[in-house]
Amino acid sequence: MEQEQVIVSMPRIGDKAPEFTAVTTQGEINFPGDYSGEWVILFSHPADFTPVCTTEFITFASMQDQFAEANCKLVGLSIDGLYSHIAWLRTIQEKIEYRGMKNVEVTFPLIEDITMEVAKKYGMIQPGEDTTKAVRAVFFIDPRGVIRTIIYYPLSLGRNFDEIYRALIALKAADEFGIATPADWRPGDDVIIGPAGSCGSAKNRMDGNEDMECQDWFFCSRKIDKETVLKKVLKK
Ligand code: BEZ
Repeated sequence: MEQEQVIVSMPRIGDKAPEFTAVTTQGEINFPGDYSGEWVILFSHPADFTPVCTTEFITFASMQDQFAEANCKLVGLSIDGLYSHIAWLRTIQEKIEYRGMKNVEVTFPLIEDITMEVAKKYGMIQPGEDTTKAVRAVFFIDPRGVIRTIIYYPLSLGRNFDEIYRALIALKAADEFGIATPADWRPGDDVIIGPAGSCGSAKNRMDGNEDMECQDWFFCSRKIDKETVLKKVLKK
């Protein structure tokens, strides 16, 4: 049967994060206002009491201090009610072990969104995948409330939380040092300098007059050691 195409507006990178107030497992939140001055990752999962989501929550909650050290808070969401959230998080803490992680307490807020109001605002309902469950969306929102990265995964695919952490650190490093980060970058790897904006600058680069290494006029990098990166991006 042909599926009806519904046009929905979805937030994009560079947009202000859509505002909402919501009931969560940690009380009411006013988003993104309550997180002004810090990074926040807003993420959705399909449903409480499902196995892949359970492994994701255990993993994310276990990394919470690591994200806090990078001045980043976590906020979850699903199309479930508050009591379901509470019961699921209690079960996770009491009974479930994943990859050696057990008795994990989820202390970040988990939004109840049975009306789908927030999920719809953030394009988390993608009807081709499921009409009543949110996809696995991840929104990285900066201290000014601007969306800086969006990642979507389908229902069947659990997220890679090392990549989510790596992306956060790379975004912060790009802001701090005015650089870009190449494929698979990690702190300590060479960073990329933006392309030359003029013929003069291209020549200067190739003449070796800039503090960078160039393979060609458009492909220049420089070193920033790991300690320098981490000193800037952590606790800030
Ligand atoms: C899960 O989290 O296990 C899951 C949720 C929805 C669909 C498929 C798997």
